[in-house]
Order: sequence, then C-alpha cells, then structure tokens
Amino acid sequence: MEHILLRHREIPDLKKLDVYRKNGGFQAFQKAVTQMRPAEVTELVKASGLRGRGGAGFPTGVKWSFIPEGIYPRYVVANADESEPGTFKDREILEGNPYQFLEGVAIACYAVEAHVGYVYLRGEFWRLAQEIEACITELEQAGLLGQALFGTDYSLRIHAHVGAGAYICGEESALLESIEGKLGQPRIRPPFPATSGLFGKPTVINNVETLTNLPLILEKGADWYRSMGTADSPGVKIFSLSGRVKKPGNYELPFGLTFRQLIFESGGGILDDRPVKAIMAAGASSSLIVADDKALDTKLDYASVRTLGADLGSASVIVIDDTVSISWVISKTIHFFKHESCGKCTPCREGTYWMMHLIDRIEQGEATRENVELLHTVAKQMQNKCLCALGEFATMAPVTGIERFPVDFKASPAGGLHA
Ligand SMILES: Cc1cc2nc3c(=O)[nH]c(=O)nc-3n(C[C@H](O)[C@H](O)[C@H](O)COP(=O)(O)O)c2cc1C
Ligand code: SF4
Repeated sequence: MEHILLRHREIPDLKKLDVYRKNGGFQAFQKAVTQMRPAEVTELVKASGLRGRGGAGFPTGVKWSFIPEGIYPRYVVANADESEPGTFKDREILEGNPYQFLEGVAIACYAVEAHVGYVYLRGEFWRLAQEIEACITELEQAGLLGQALFGTDYSLRIHAHVGAGAYICGEESALLESIEGKLGQPRIRPPFPATSGLFGKPTVINNVETLTNLPLILEKGADWYRSMGTADSPGVKIFSLSGRVKKPGNYELPFGLTFRQLIFESGGGILDDRPVKAIMAAGASSSLIVADDKALDTKLDYASVRTLGADLGSASVIVIDDTVSISWVISKTIHFFKHESCGKCTPCREGTYWMMHLIDRIEQGEATRENVELLHTVAKQMQNKCLCALGEFATMAPVTGIERFPVDFKASPAGGLHA
C-alpha cells in the first residue's frame, strides 16, 4: 500500500516545495479557500472520522466545532513536541514531508477561521525548527501563505515556536503557557482551549500526524478515508515500533491490523527469536500488556486495545521479551516521569519522587514485600488526583506491572524482592 503520511518514502525530494506541488501539493488548501466554506471543511473532516493522533484519539472535526461562534481572533497550534519515550513518528513527517504537514496546518486554520497558526516544536528539535521556518518562508514567497490567498480575502501567517525541552510542554495547556512566554505548566480546566486558549482566545491544538492527514482527506474525500482502518478508528496510523524487535522503525498501516502482524511481519519478530513477554502500546505512558495469544491477536485500534486494559495512545509500541525484567522497565518509566513532573500539583510531584525511591530499592535488591505493595499503593493513590494526565501516565506501568507480572517481583535469596 502506498503511504499517505510517509509519502517521502516513495517520492524522492518531497521535502522540496516544487516537488511537493508537482505531486498535488497545496491544491487541497487552494480548493478549501476558493471553493469551500470553513464549516464545510469541518463537516468533511468530521465525516472522515479522523481522530487525533496525539494520544487521546479525540475526533478532530468534533474538536474544531467546539470553537465558539463570533469570537476572534482564533488560533491553531500544531503540537510538534513529541517527547513521549518511544514516539518518533512526527519527527519523520517533519523531516521528510514537511509541506504536507504545513498544508494540513493551513487547512485547519481555514476551517476554524484562524489567520495565525503556530507550530510548537520541542526544544531538541531546534535544527528541525530552522527547516520548518525555511519552509514557511518559501510558502510565503510562493504566495501560498500571506495576504489575499488565491485572490480571496483570506490571509494566513504561520510561526514556528521552539520550546525549552520539557515533556510537559506537549500537554496542550502547558504548551500554550510556553508559547505565551510563561513557565510550561498545565492550566486548570475548564476553561478548555477551544474557548480560552492561546492569549485567552479560542484555540485548536492538533498533533502533527493528525494535521498531515488533512490534505489527502480534502482531495480524496471522507469515504476514501473511511475505506481504510476500522469503523471505530478510520484511516491509517504511524506505529513507532521499538524495543526487542529485529526491525524497529515507523510503520504506516491501516488501523485494525493486529499486534502480531505489527511485531512479527513489519518488525521481523523478536531479537534472537526470544519469546515476547510484554507490550507497551503507548510509549512510557502505557499500561503493561501481557503478550499472550489474546493480546497478540488484538487489533490495533483505539477500542480494541482498551479491551486489554490499556490505551493505544500515540501508538508507540515498545516490545519487551523474556530477557527484560519488568521492575527494570518500571524503574525507567518512573525515573522519566519524576524528572518531567512539573511540580505544580502535590500528588504527582511527591508521588513520582516517592515511587522513584521505592523502585530504586526494588532494583537494588533491598526491598521487602511491603515496599512493593507500597509502590502499588502510592501509584493507585495518585490516580484521579493529579492536575494533568502526566501524573496518571506515571502510574500506568507500576500499577499494571506489579499486578500483571508478579513473578518479576518475587523474593531474592538475600531476602530482597528483585527478580
Ligand atoms: C504530559 C502530556 C504530554 C503530551 N505530549 C504530547 C505530544 O508530545 N504531542 C502531542 O501531539 N500531544 C501530546 N499530548 C496530548 C495533547 O495534550 C493534546 O491532546 C494533543 O496535542 C491534541 O492533538 P490531537 O487531537 O490531534 O491528538 C500530551 C499530553 C500530556 C498529558
Ligand atoms: S500532574 Fe504532574 S505534570 Fe501535571 S500538573 Fe501535576 S505536577 Fe505538573
């Protein structure tokens, strides 16, 4: 199947504007601006069933329709923070197919009647930010961004904004704070960004991959998009596959293939042909899934993955084999979240710190059974009490790891609990 998002794999030099335009680039944006009303674009995207690819899977057209009538200016912000460990799909789009992404930003802006869009890039993407800025300049010089586009009275500017390198700035309200020049910490909601977002104005925030779908949806239609994937999750998804697989990488596939197909067909199977033990479907934020036959035959779509007590999230599939201890995996995720907790709310600030000390004891073989139970309790106590989802994410691996892989926490000969 030809790629829809990773088209640069078939079309050399797609990152050059003339090549992108020769391959139909910016015709969808032109069609939207010259032939469609903004509301029609939103309706088309709603009909396509496109769901946000930033993690929550929220329907994109529905999100756009939350922008209140009559309040201007509005903003669109593309979330290019991509800081989830195990997620590296947006980066490939930005590097290989930047104009399709920027055309998607432009279409979203037109749909919600925004005249300014932002691309928010994680601090480590500073080189990529320069490339995106160069693309924006080329688009302005080509008359595809700027004033009076395609002879209409629609004008659009897009700005690239680089963060300082913080995972929390991928969370949409912390991201908005960061663009406003403030400390990147989540806002208390409501109000939600659709009503009070950037500079207090109605704002749509969408993930890079979400936006990159838009030009082809506009060109080929909602039915075409729905002909791929499942009824629950139409279209294609880029799965970032990593961990103990022979061929890690990004795989653009229709929703609805199974974990087994992704891991064994696309990913070439497990390194050294070891048994697969666990799967994390959504990067470090994931619940740990026991990789039994039921799990391997589960479809990769939002609803099916939920039946395994997990979320598909950004579809960053980390594969764990029998050489890896689950307590080690948990240690890595807890240390990450402890480091990235912004400190604004007590359950996450204190909870991640406490969990880190407990998992360190477990990893060092100094823990008692009570320490493991306490780790589980602390994680459970954090749930539903944190100001933003980062605190929840931090609890996913510890809770499900201890519950689903008890053998990895068994007593050691020295009286400790390390597996
Ligand atoms: C801690 C945290 C980190 C996040 N990081 C990202 C990120 O790097 N990229 C992203 O697109 N969404 C991220 N999100 C989700 C965003 O808040 C938001 O839901 C998303 O950008 C919306 O876009 P979508 O509707 O297209 O998925 C994060 C959320 C949380 C709680
Ligand atoms: S949950 Fe963590 S990251 Fe989110 S606001 Fe609270 S301290 Fe900050």
